[in-house]
Amino acid sequence: MAYKKEKMQLNGEQRKILDGKEGKILQEAMESLIKYGTAMGAREFIRISSAHTLFTLRSKVARCFLPRGVLLTKEDIDKFSKEIIGTQVRVKTTVNPGAIDREKWQQMGAEEATYNSVMQTVEIGKRCGFMMTYTCIPYLTDNIPLIGQHVAWSESSAYLYINSFLGARSNRDSCEISLYSSLLGIAPNFGLHLDENRRGTDLINVQCELKGPIDWGALGYFTGDRVGIGIPVFKNLRRPTTEEAVQLSASMSSSGAVPMLHIVGVTPEAPTIETAFRGNTPRQTYIFDESAKGEVYQLLNYKPEGKVDIVFLGCPHATLYEIKEIARMLEGKHVANDIRLWVMTSSSIRASAEQLGYAEIIEDSGGELFADGCFLCYYVNAPNKKPKMDRIATNSAKQAFGARRSFNSNVFFGDTERCIQIAIDGGA
Ligand code: F3S
Repeated sequence: MAYKKEKMQLNGEQRKILDGKEGKILQEAMESLIKYGTAMGAREFIRISSAHTLFTLRSKVARCFLPRGVLLTKEDIDKFSKEIIGTQVRVKTTVNPGAIDREKWQQMGAEEATYNSVMQTVEIGKRCGFMMTYTCIPYLTDNIPLIGQHVAWSESSAYLYINSFLGARSNRDSCEISLYSSLLGIAPNFGLHLDENRRGTDLINVQCELKGPIDWGALGYFTGDRVGIGIPVFKNLRRPTTEEAVQLSASMSSSGAVPMLHIVGVTPEAPTIETAFRGNTPRQTYIFDESAKGEVYQLLNYKPEGKVDIVFLGCPHATLYEIKEIARMLEGKHVANDIRLWVMTSSSIRASAEQLGYAEIIEDSGGELFADGCFLCYYVNAPNKKPKMDRIATNSAKQAFGARRSFNSNVFFGDTERCIQIAIDGGA
């Protein structure tokens, strides 16, 4: 069915797709992108060089391929694969964490049916050309866009990072939209794809020292909460480490809908404060000082005293360096019997951690190094599978916020060293 209220200009190839000449799936994808672009005021599409999306049997495009909730035989998958021939991604596309660790799904409490369904998704995704990387930090491993490249990424922490620290250009696309973009290789041209929408709107004056990723997470939480929808420009902020930049991006996108940020001298488009604002007058100036930082810690530490059931690290997925540090802190020590220490990363990073011996140290100490999943996403969708987590400890502001909101957990929010100490001491 042709989309009637088309306002966007299409080239010949795009019109052919819209007319269904390249199959129903691409036609539906084109219709959806046109609706989205029209609603957002875009007049045309631009070519993208990569996408990052969610590909699960629950996602809409996957449902185009597969009947919902049905476990398929190999023959079924072969049959569906034939039907989707021609439906290949047109750009490099990575995927966000899937439900579970494909090796340690039982430790996560998953059932065999869930495992089978994930494996089917992997099979279908691979045949369509998706790189089934299952990570929320693809920008550090498998999908690293360059400055000025237009891309279509979902995952709020990831698209914020690539806009701000790599200078790539992506809107905060939903999983479905980024999936359609990956199949068509285009995105509606609006929002952060355009220079004028990348200008700073609010000034954040940092007047305290930031010690490690945890403080950067607190700064991100503060900023997202204050700015809401806008683009903060940070003043008096030193150059972050990669892990600090990851925590800043992730926490900001959980407390607000900030699409990108400027750190003067760090963000490629912000060599000076003037270029960061490019003519805009700041709507507001916010001061982040010791007192503001303390307030964030107080807020994220929700009833932190008492016995911790589980220590969650790796939100966003732990980098190899973080895993190395966790291994260093755990070497020769033991996680207490009645507490879990769970670390999440991607398969590619876990493979390196295994090769380098870090994984063995973590597991010898009683911790678990999981890959490809997301504790928050999985247990939100499978609450009856979640381990006891009345009180958790985490080094991630995003996880602290999410666990309290989604699981009603009491939360200790502190740096990696303190979280590990809690795991060793028995959670008290
Ligand atoms: Fe990644 Fe899940 Fe945290 S997708 S950012 S580990 S909530």
